[in-house]
Formats: sequence, C-alpha cells, structure tokens
Amino acid sequence: MGDNYSNMVRIAIKARKNSYSPYSGFKVGACLKDINGNFYTGCNIENAAFSPTNCAERTAFFKAVSEGVKEFESIAIAGGVFGIKDYCPPCGVCRQVMMEFCNPESFKIILAKSENDYKEMLLKDLLPEGFGRLNVK
Ligand code: THU
Repeated sequence: MGDNYSNMVRIAIKARKNSYSPYSGFKVGACLKDINGNFYTGCNIENAAFSPTNCAERTAFFKAVSEGVKEFESIAIAGGVFGIKDYCPPCGVCRQVMMEFCNPESFKIILAKSENDYKEMLLKDLLPEGFGRLNVK
C-alpha cells in the first residue's frame, strides 16, 4: 500500500476510449502491470450474441499471457456510462482469471474514479478462499 497508481489509472482511463460497448454503453478500461513494470491495456469488447463479450480486465490479461507474460503486480480499472462516476469492481469471471495468474495475497486491484480518486484492494479480499492452480495439484 502507499504506492502511487495515478499513472496506471491515467492509462486505464485512456484505454477506456477504445471500449466497444454498443449494447450496454458501459465503457471500461484497464491497465495491467507485470512484475517487470510493463503495462498491458484492455477495454471491454461486446458482441451481438452477448455471451462472447470480454471484459477490459480479461482483455488486458489475455494480451499479456499471449505474449508470454504470466506474472503480475497490479491492475487499474475504470468504468462508467457517461464518464466515470463510481468504482468499477471486476466481475466474478475476471476475478477467477486473476486467481489463475496472480498471488491473491499481494496482487493489487486499483478501483479508480480519476487519477487522484482511487482505492487499492487485494485479490484475496475480492475473492476470498479463491480456487486456483494450487488446489488442482
Ligand atoms: N465490464 C468490464 O469490462 N469490466 C468490469 O469490471 C465490469 C463489466 C463490462 C462488460 C460489459 O461489456 C459491460 O461492462 C457491462 O457489464
């Protein structure tokens, strides 16, 4: 805690501009940071058949993993219809994807309204008793 996530929030808000969300109108952007300090952005991508919709968070994770990156430090998320009025917590499916690649004790989830209005959470608090790789061993 105590880190400054303003830059990641700014990048997430910028990524939100690419949101493809003609059905809900709810635009989300994410900025995922790996353990080497590299950023992967994501936006939500909706679909006429609805269920293929991909959240901003998973877009960012899948971009990174598809490039061979599998260790992450934090993710900043910003979402809303007309601007960003409330915090946008990740959906359950995205929390489970985070559980696959992140340490729930240390992975930080930054819920942002603006560059200077955000809160830091840990994956373990958003997904208590999460089921992950270690359970399958
Ligand atoms: N959505 C995200 O991209 N991330 C979240 O954290 C919550 C929901 C998207 C999915 C859908 O395109 C729209 O927001 C409304 O649910």
